Amino acid sequence: MATGFIPQEIIDEIAAYSDIVEIVNEYVPLKKRGRNFQGLCPFHHEKTPSFTVSPDKQIFRCFGCGVGGNIFSFIMQIEGLNFPEAVEKLAQRAGIPLPKQEMTAAQKEELKQKERWYKINELTAQFYHKILLDTKFGKKALDYLKKRGITAEIIEKFHLGVSLPDWDGLIKFMNKRGVRYKELLELGLILPKNSGRGYYDRFRNRLMFPIWDNASRVIAFGGRVLDDGEPKYLNSPDTPLFNKGYYLYGLHLAKSSIRNEDLAVIVEGYMDVIACHQYGITNVVASLGTALTQQQARALMRHTYNVAIAYDADIAGSNATLRGLDILGDLGCQVRVVNLPKGLDPDEYLRNFGSQEFSKLVAQGENLIEYKLSNAMENVNHASIEGKIKIIQSILPDLYKIDSPVAREGAVKLISNKLGIADTSILSELRKYRQEKQKFPQNKDRNSEKRENKIVNLTDLNKIEVQMLKILFEHNKYFADVEKVGGKELFTSPLNELYQQMVEKFLLKGKVIGSDLNEKDSELLAFVLMNEFDIPNSDKVVADYIKNLQINKLNKDYSNTIKELSEAEKLGDAEGVKKLLSHIEWIIQQKKLLAP
Ligand code: GTP
Ligand code: MN
Repeated sequence: MATGFIPQEIIDEIAAYSDIVEIVNEYVPLKKRGRNFQGLCPFHHEKTPSFTVSPDKQIFRCFGCGVGGNIFSFIMQIEGLNFPEAVEKLAQRAGIPLPKQEMTAAQKEELKQKERWYKINELTAQFYHKILLDTKFGKKALDYLKKRGITAEIIEKFHLGVSLPDWDGLIKFMNKRGVRYKELLELGLILPKNSGRGYYDRFRNRLMFPIWDNASRVIAFGGRVLDDGEPKYLNSPDTPLFNKGYYLYGLHLAKSSIRNEDLAVIVEGYMDVIACHQYGITNVVASLGTALTQQQARALMRHTYNVAIAYDADIAGSNATLRGLDILGDLGCQVRVVNLPKGLDPDEYLRNFGSQEFSKLVAQGENLIEYKLSNAMENVNHASIEGKIKIIQSILPDLYKIDSPVAREGAVKLISNKLGIADTSILSELRKYRQEKQKFPQNKDRNSEKRENKIVNLTDLNKIEVQMLKILFEHNKYFADVEKVGGKELFTSPLNELYQQMVEKFLLKGKVIGSDLNEKDSELLAFVLMNEFDIPNSDKVVADYIKNLQINKLNKDYSNTIKELSEAEKLGDAEGVKKLLSHIEWIIQQKKLLAP
């Protein structure tokens, strides 16, 4: 919430206490590659990691889409924050107090409102939980849970509850605590009566599942009937705190074990997640009955790139599986499908066969091609030629997307074996498909175009200047030599500004690091530093670079002066012409001195 000016010393201190690898790793799983760390870029679709983080330089850069910068710009972009907000977030994380900033009245009210909403949800969860544990009515639901093998410990862990059968159970409870109808309405906890007068509880006579965000705050509820009523599940509507396409049930409890196991299991239902925990399997989340969305996939990808989908084997489940496979696959995840026997969901499977068997099943999951093939073979008559063709056609887009030749060959072999068709026929179908695809390339999404433009601009930068800045960053001692012969003036926009920032930091602190710079300059610096170019380690070579910069500057000066000269001649400005001619003379002399 901080706005306005934040003193540079504080920004420096925050930067000093914020390690870019550690912070980026909270959003993007990173693997060490030489001196740098790599992962899949969170800012564009990619399947092979080109997103690079340098711990030495405290910067990040994606070679695929061109984004780059320091820790502040990373937080700004990934969280959608402005600079002061990003500083505040990192300050909090580093435990560094910021000077108190006055919030506007509207900001204060917004913050207060949010806090009240969270508080009301928390209170509601407590209310349902207490009814389950401490009331005669709750006994029925408690028995139901016991019958399903859910222990008291798990009831606590998931804070399960039950809503009263009355029309106003929650309303009465909240009235006593002075909570306004307006807020209960905003949270989707109550509904207006048809008569237009008064309200009633949304959740009645249901087993209640609080839904949390990543910060473990209650943002919504799911409610299951206790008998075979309809609808079986009722969920909170979208509210200012909740958007169902964005959250995964159980992620806040699963994230550390997802990281430890480097694998996430996605199931369909609340009860599946809970049963998994009951059986000691904790790297599990549910997509809440709907097909996985891109936002949910991204939320998972903050913790792992390996995902196993364990949806029911019914038609709805397999459609949801196919969609999930595509979304996760396109984002670069390694996806497997857990082959549950027909009619069993993970909860039922665990109760029948135990956790070892379930883990085995997860480990044996089919990959994307295997699953699509067996799925297609179940639905199409693969004994007929037409059927075989249809199946191959349906798998071509996925074959085409496989980058690795080895993996593609394996996939082609598999299809060939299963369908009893020669490799060569499949490969020739694939060739045809590729030709079609290249004739009609798909439209790129706007974002990637925008980013590509950005790279083009960066590659337009003067190469010598870029390389000189990289030398200066690595070997600060050359700042003195550059300053002596013109400093900032040796560089052109926007690199001249970057140079100026760097030299100022150097003069002030005796060194420069990426987090010292503003967003624009740190993005430029990221580009400069990740540039493939080996730093020369001889003073002589560096001196040649500086000379080159000087010559470039003189060349520019020369062509400008020539232009001015022809203007002056047109105007008949004899005095001006004389001056400009002598300046040209001087430029030529200087150039001779530099490059005899
Ligand atoms: P149990 O039958 O108690 O084991 O629950 P389950 O989680 O296995 O339920 P099921 O397999 O029927 O559904 C999977 C998930 O889909 C549920 O956990 C809900 O999130 C969602 N779902 C199921 N039925 C409904 C419904 O009627 N309405 C809504 N909104 N969601 C539903
Ligand atoms: Mn179930």
